[in-house]
Amino acid sequence: MIPLSRLKRLAREHGTPLFVLDHDEIRRNYAELKKHLPRIQVYYAVKANSDPAIVKTLFQAGASFDVASISEFRIVHRNIEGLPPKKRQDYIWDKIIYANPIKATETLSELDPYKPLVTYDNYEEIRKMRKYSPHAGLVLRIRVPNTGSMVELSSKFGAAPGEAVDLIEAARAAGFTVEGISFHVGSQATNFDNYIQALQISADILQEARLRGHHGLKHLDIGGGFPAPYDNKVRPFRELADLLNAEIDRLFTRDITILAEPGRFLVATAASLVVKIIGKARRDRKLCYYVDDGIYGTYSGILFDHCQYHLESFQKGPTEICSVFGPTCDALDTISTVENLPDLKLGDLLYTRNIGAYSNASSTNFNGFPPAKVVHVNQ
Ligand SMILES: Cc1ncc(COP(=O)(O)O)c(C=O)c1O
Repeated sequence: MIPLSRLKRLAREHGTPLFVLDHDEIRRNYAELKKHLPRIQVYYAVKANSDPAIVKTLFQAGASFDVASISEFRIVHRNIEGLPPKKRQDYIWDKIIYANPIKATETLSELDPYKPLVTYDNYEEIRKMRKYSPHAGLVLRIRVPNTGSMVELSSKFGAAPGEAVDLIEAARAAGFTVEGISFHVGSQATNFDNYIQALQISADILQEARLRGHHGLKHLDIGGGFPAPYDNKVRPFRELADLLNAEIDRLFTRDITILAEPGRFLVATAASLVVKIIGKARRDRKLCYYVDDGIYGTYSGILFDHCQYHLESFQKGPTEICSVFGPTCDALDTISTVENLPDLKLGDLLYTRNIGAYSNASSTNFNGFPPAKVVHVNQ
């Protein structure tokens, strides 16, 4: 974690709002994943934070990538091309999976020359891909329980387990190779039972597929969802890894390659944000601070990611419960109504830890406020 004194110095040097990204922390998170899940090939979910510098750092650490739009594909392609890989890869597609089950026809056409590995979960998509991306390799995304996850995904994506093998058959009939199945238990999945159930459902589908003559499925993609340690209620990652390893070894033979698509776990703890107090008022006796970044900027995850961030002061002193608002004219731009902060002056700085995932990735420039400047340390 970047020491407070350094964070403050960087903010004085570069101005605020300042997003400080620590590449050593990204490497540590990647190494922790690999240490505890040695059987798994990690595909970093670029949507969590698509900064090209993160792509380069993770590529050099040995990661592959999960992209969900053509622009994410281009970012990865551009930034890994020419870099010496840790391990020689024969094809670019050992390095990228296009893991959005719904793809525009233009996207499919642009991807097709790369013989992409893409996910799908419905019949219409098979028809589309047959026309626009006939060289794709397919991975069937199935629907699994998302109970208790901070961000739920199963209402939008995933074939019902009961129709999974029919969809495999339909893709085969359309001339595709179905290379595996994938799932996502929802983001910030602190309920580990979701993984246990999803692995059992996947094993049952693989078995049914084999019984019906489909022996070519060789990948299981267990998605993302690995929780970041936002607070001490999140159980240690090692506990989840032990469960995953035991269930994977019990249910899947060694010839099945296991992939994962973690986003949040790799980057959430790698960034801190420093903001400046630009306004102060008492409203109904409650102290209100106004800072130079908000819901339309780096704190956008409060809205889109359902993640509640906290602000802390560099100064000590008696505290009271305050509201903290962003800089725009909109009342939705409320970062928190329950922050415990001391009596501070205009120009004083506040900071937020663990804000590297789904934060500046979804910021806008509403009202003309520019996004926070990004500073990379230990790059
Ligand atoms: C298909 C897919 N893979 C991976 C991820 C990354 O998930 P997480 O950041 O929870 O690890 C997401 C997140 O929405 C996703 O939709």
